[in-house]
Amino acid sequence: MKVRVPGLPAATPLRRYSPDQPLVDRPVLTGSAPGARIDLRWIPLAVTSHSPLAGEGPGEGSGPWSAIIFDATGITDVAGLSELHAFIAPAFRNLRPCGRLIVLGTPPEDCTDPAAAAAQRALDGFIRSAGKEARSGSTANLIYVAAGAESGLESTLRFFLSGRSAYVCGQVVRVRPAKTPPTADWTRPLKDRVAVVTGAARGIGAAIAQTLARDGAQVVCVDVPAAGSALAEVANTIGGTAFQVDITAADAPDRLASYLEQRHGGADVFVHNAGITRDRSLVNLTAENWSSVLAVNLDAQLRINETLLARNVLHPNARVICISSTSGIAGNRGQTNYAASKAGIIGMVQAMGPAMARKDMTINAVAPGFIETAMTRAMPFATREIGRRINSLNQGGLPVDVAETVAWLGQLGTAGVNGQVIRVCGQSILGA
Ligand SMILES: NC(=O)c1ccc[n+]([C@@H]2O[C@H](COP(=O)([O-])OP(=O)(O)OC[C@H]3O[C@@H](n4cnc5c(N)ncnc54)[C@H](O)[C@@H]3O)[C@@H](O)[C@H]2O)c1
Repeated sequence: MKVRVPGLPAATPLRRYSPDQPLVDRPVLTGSAPGARIDLRWIPLAVTSHSPLAGEGPGEGSGPWSAIIFDATGITDVAGLSELHAFIAPAFRNLRPCGRLIVLGTPPEDCTDPAAAAAQRALDGFIRSAGKEARSGSTANLIYVAAGAESGLESTLRFFLSGRSAYVCGQVVRVRPAKTPPTADWTRPLKDRVAVVTGAARGIGAAIAQTLARDGAQVVCVDVPAAGSALAEVANTIGGTAFQVDITAADAPDRLASYLEQRHGGADVFVHNAGITRDRSLVNLTAENWSSVLAVNLDAQLRINETLLARNVLHPNARVICISSTSGIAGNRGQTNYAASKAGIIGMVQAMGPAMARKDMTINAVAPGFIETAMTRAMPFATREIGRRINSLNQGGLPVDVAETVAWLGQLGTAGVNGQVIRVCGQSILGA
């Protein structure tokens, strides 16, 4: 069913994940430029084609493809980029609705030769433009795989191939070498992991709690005492536990740490989702509007992280995921306080990444764009419709889209993704 608003083009309903779905249900076209480093043979229904430059290309009549994956890791100069164009251009029109274009590259910053760095960085502009041209719910994303990280790519490739990444488009992710424990069951990748979600009583936090539980985690749902009954309901539905605390309270980090130690012996995944808005133009923004937003959205995360690390509450291979916002990247009228807090999260994640890696842990940020929640439903019609439409997928995302991205970053297999910001915004035109 198409979502229709009179006078506006219909948006394609996105293909979303469920554990009983196959990873792909139609052939996947895979190809590579000379010097490619990634083994793609494990991908179900893979049809491997040589580069069309060699005269054996897929041609316009082939497909429809579930996905097109091109390994460009070996491209070292501008001439080599022709392989990318020649392979993808004829096949792109035969991508099925809600299909995936995925390009694999080598991080440009790892290339010492300027021509190689230029060619690899060119992939970034290519994929962002292809994402804007993709039709019918299809997406385009780029994964830079550092040398030595090839075997740590699977969880990320699975995420981008599947319906889990329905609302993720035009993104550039780096996978670096890291100790990556094996994943026994890809339908329950969080089995036996203890996950904590703040702000879990409703909205995106409730969806994150549900998604982590579906993937096998034992979930501790955290929210303010005033949201106690909704919090208990979420926790009961997913067989998790509820812990009531205002995360800005002076003793909140220690109370949380003690609860996790006593009830669960620590935590494996910690999701900082609780957040508030107090939108006002800068000239009308009170000191309370400023400090309350910075306290909940940023300072509480810093203080909780510090305590969890100081008290060794986080287990080895822990994953910390912080919810930022595209407002923190692009800025937003009336949100100087909120955007400052959400940009601050990105600063924190980038600064903590290297130290977390040394402990075999990761910390990443997820920056949602326009997500269909009670907050966005309350917007005036015109503002809401503009918010929904100004992205490549021509629609708002769902809380589950943010949750699926959090769940991917929470996996043991995602050890090589660290200190990064992943936007879940349908490639909104706001922000980089
Ligand atoms: N909805 C969107 O479109 C959108 C877009 C970008 C980012 N985000 C971010 O996603 C996160 C969730 O957003 P949402 O729309 O689900 O919001 P929401 O208001 O529906 O839910 C936030 C939850 O956090 C809890 N919370 C607030 N202050 C708290 C505190 N001091 N201690 C403990 N819990 C507290 C609330 O009680 C509530 O249950 C927020 O960080 C928000 O900034 C949302």
